[in-house]
Amino acid sequence: MATKTPLPSMDFYQDNANLKWIILAVSTIISIGSVYYTNILVEQLKEREINQVKLYARALEYTINESDDNILFITEEILNKNTSIPTILINEKDEFIFYNNINISPTWSEQRKKEMLAREVKEMKKIFPPIEIILKDAGVVFGKQYVCYKNSALLSQLIAYPYIQLSVIAIFGFISYLAFNYSKIAEQNRVWVGLAKETAHQLGTPLSSLMAWIEVLRDDPEISKKGVVEELDKDIQKLRMVTERFSSIGSTPTLKEENVYLLIKNVVEYLKPRVSSKINFEVYTLSETIKARVHAPLFEWVIENLCKNAVDAMGSNGTIAIKILRGSEGKVLIDLSDTGKGIPKGIISSVFKPGFTTKKRGWGLGLTLAKRIIELYHEGSIFVKSSDENLGTTFRIELKSA
Ligand SMILES: Nc1ncnc2c1ncn2[C@@H]1O[C@H](COP(=O)(O)OP(=O)(O)OP(=O)(O)O)[C@@H](O)[C@H]1O
Ligand SMILES: [Mg+2]
Repeated sequence: MATKTPLPSMDFYQDNANLKWIILAVSTIISIGSVYYTNILVEQLKEREINQVKLYARALEYTINESDDNILFITEEILNKNTSIPTILINEKDEFIFYNNINISPTWSEQRKKEMLAREVKEMKKIFPPIEIILKDAGVVFGKQYVCYKNSALLSQLIAYPYIQLSVIAIFGFISYLAFNYSKIAEQNRVWVGLAKETAHQLGTPLSSLMAWIEVLRDDPEISKKGVVEELDKDIQKLRMVTERFSSIGSTPTLKEENVYLLIKNVVEYLKPRVSSKINFEVYTLSETIKARVHAPLFEWVIENLCKNAVDAMGSNGTIAIKILRGSEGKVLIDLSDTGKGIPKGIISSVFKPGFTTKKRGWGLGLTLAKRIIELYHEGSIFVKSSDENLGTTFRIELKSA
């Protein structure tokens, strides 16, 4: 006897969902680590720059106040060596005396230069407190000056660097994710269409020959009498329906204005004798002529799948209630409720995924197919409207108006 190779079922989705969280967590840890490490570097560099400015200020104070032979050395080795940290020396009235490493073009007017420096001083004071320089003449204090400063361009870039790097990686990751998803969907589409077309094609040949054989049997009075032909005919009709469904899903079906109430009634009438007699079917509508643009064989397939799931969820008795309503903008809404065991909250988001099943003999394709038919071919939507454990589930289908 042939054994069924199990399809990846619930565990697969659980693992997959976990993998997503693991990747997200690892990326977050890497991002935080990268920002944290750069921050340590920034703090070290900042401290070094502050010390450098302090030395610069002391050297400045020395050159202003003293007049010995060391001055040339100090000017050369300390003051002129600061080629990266922007500094401005100001007096007590906030007027600038000279500046270093500030982007000012020599072509600027005196006014423009002053305004720029005033702005810089204001900004610098917000970042670091200015360093005081005490002016003395023969040991007597006669005034004060201040060295204002801010981070060097290098340090500012280093502060911004991890954020820029992470943004670029995030954008790249997002684009790759979209591309990957797109190619995955395209591949799935090819499999769906190919398999459906092939199935319809393979069923077609024996079906035509069966239809010819049934005519031969009909002509035989002996067999005709026994009602065999009628039974065979029913099975052939069913086979034709299946073939039509598969061939429709393998092509672009054309939608027609159809009476939704009648289509649903058809499915219910077909299913009733095939399920436990303790299962009640109820169909409610405000109008028995309610119409929507649908492809009848595919739409019936969706309703059939939902009803079969409902039956599975209820066991041997319960009620399936189908309500046909009008929504906004002339939409047709179909609510299909059962009184079954309900869908646990944690798996509601997975029920439409291909291969997801909680049943021993399930393939996890019924709802995937329903979603594909409603969303792709009818531009409608299908979702779990509500579900309570042990009380039942309601699925809603929204169709565009006729
Ligand atoms: N009405 C419902 N009540 C409770 N659970 C449901 C209901 N409909 C679907 N489910 C859950 O969603 C899962 C996926 O349903 P789906 O129809 O896609 O696959 P399946 O019924 O398991 O298998 P298949 O339809 O391919 O034979 C089911 O296994 C079940 O756990
Ligand atoms: Mg199913």
